[in-house]
Amino acid sequence: MQKPYVFITRKLPKETISQLEQIVEINMWPHEEEAVPREVLLSEIKKADGLLTMLSDKIDSEVLNEASSLKVIANLAVGYDNIDVKAAKQKGITVCNTPDVLTDSTADLAFSLILATARRIVESANFVKEGKWNSWGPLLLAGADVHHKTIGIVGMGRIGEAVARRAKGFDMKILYHNRKRKPNAEVSLSAEYKEFHELLKQSDFVVSLIPLTPETKEMFNREAFQSMKDSAIFVNAGRGATVDESALIEALKNKEIAGAGLDVFQQEPIDIDHPLLSMKQVVALPHIGSASVETRMKMAELACRNIRNILDGKGAETPVT
Ligand code: DGY
Repeated sequence: MQKPYVFITRKLPKETISQLEQIVEINMWPHEEEAVPREVLLSEIKKADGLLTMLSDKIDSEVLNEASSLKVIANLAVGYDNIDVKAAKQKGITVCNTPDVLTDSTADLAFSLILATARRIVESANFVKEGKWNSWGPLLLAGADVHHKTIGIVGMGRIGEAVARRAKGFDMKILYHNRKRKPNAEVSLSAEYKEFHELLKQSDFVVSLIPLTPETKEMFNREAFQSMKDSAIFVNAGRGATVDESALIEALKNKEIAGAGLDVFQQEPIDIDHPLLSMKQVVALPHIGSASVETRMKMAELACRNIRNILDGKGAETPVT
């Protein structure tokens, strides 16, 4: 009997696919840092029973219309805004993501953005490497304290709660905004629920971890930045399109907020000439929220298990519901 056919849109470490390889035929795009061209995706999906995708692959109705035997799409990310889940479901395709295994690594990265931006870590490291360090100075590269300040977490899912646990260790006051209130987090983390604009007004650090949906698109707009303290630092480790970047640039230029730590952007990769990249109060990272070797291996293994389970006729471990 012919083995099911699985297309993987980016090169993954061999050991992560070895189990899946026992039961399916795998074709893997051979590049690690080069996205699969759209025409290859459109052609591969025609014959695929399973697809392992990256968050940078747009799986829209044009792609899905080409599928004839596809049963599962496993996205190597917790977010799945790159996939038209409704259209996939209508075709009987199960979409899976990789929650839980990346929670702590992504929270670590969000917290490092808070520290890096507040304490001017990147600017200071460049200062030393560029040979600019002539003498110790009382206010040389002085930043803002993080400990004992107020953090406002927008999007109190698993990653939001993990950021709150880290903030607790820094003796911070924790505010949160979420679609639904989280009574457990309110008790265990002493997190206080606030309306969105109230949270923005009171927070020293506003950390966005919200997924991208029609409701959250450009939720951080001109009005939102104007509600923040002029000493506030905005951190985004969720999705770039939840921010109106022109409004963010204006807020930074007008000193309506003090800085921004960004792991995600409207357009990824961000253009080198983008105004945000020339601002020294901005720390910009290339969407590396979950990028530790250990976590990426676990994500790849989970994605492969989801494909294997679906193709074996079992339920997926982490389907998108
Ligand atoms: C995700 O998994 O959605 C994150 O953005 C990865 O860093």
